[in-house]
Amino acid sequence: MTKTLNEQKLEVAKTAIQHIPIGSIIGVGTGSTANYFIDELAKVKNKINGAVASSDNTAQRLKSHYIEVLDLNNVNDIPVYVDGADEITEHLHMIKGGGGALTREKIVSATAKKFICITDESKLVNVLGEFPLPIEVIPMARSYVAREIVQLGGHPVLREKFTTDNGNVILDVHGLKILNPIELEVALNQITGIVTNGLFAKRSADILLLGTNNGVRTITI
Ligand code: 5RP
Repeated sequence: MTKTLNEQKLEVAKTAIQHIPIGSIIGVGTGSTANYFIDELAKVKNKINGAVASSDNTAQRLKSHYIEVLDLNNVNDIPVYVDGADEITEHLHMIKGGGGALTREKIVSATAKKFICITDESKLVNVLGEFPLPIEVIPMARSYVAREIVQLGGHPVLREKFTTDNGNVILDVHGLKILNPIELEVALNQITGIVTNGLFAKRSADILLLGTNNGVRTITI
């Protein structure tokens, strides 16, 4: 029987729960797959000490389950960060930010010991870039950053009617075939006005729980 992508998301969310240390504070990502995880986390909420959210939406959903949401500045130790991805390779490099939460996702995941990525099988790719790369930009720098990105060979498109939780805009960059994700991640972040970009390659995932028709496949590097 074929599993739908949503069934795969639920399955990887359930599997991720098994990776959560009892008594810890969990970093929680953003998006539909992360939402499945939050709903599963609610079932074991008495076994954790709270969560750090990567977006206002995630914070709201955690709170709706009466899971305590902590300020990252008051937390020293996040053993595990769980989040989805828009694209991921076998090297566990990712494009994230389809939901626009890339900057906070990058901050929370940077502080976590282990990044567990949970996705359905449609997200696994050989080369990153078919999914437009989201870039969070300070609004006044939008045109300048767009021109710089064109120089790098990308086609930036302003995400219409969208403001990030940090009050910024998103440029979605089409037409990139990202063969060196670490290099591009670093190069983009040198452009003045970019807050961050959606490449998660310098800090990749540590574990991918990939939904498939035959159950959850675990990929590590
Ligand atoms: C949000 C993200 C999400 O992790 C990414 O967009 C995947 O979302 P979904 O689980 O809904 O496919 O980076 O900023």
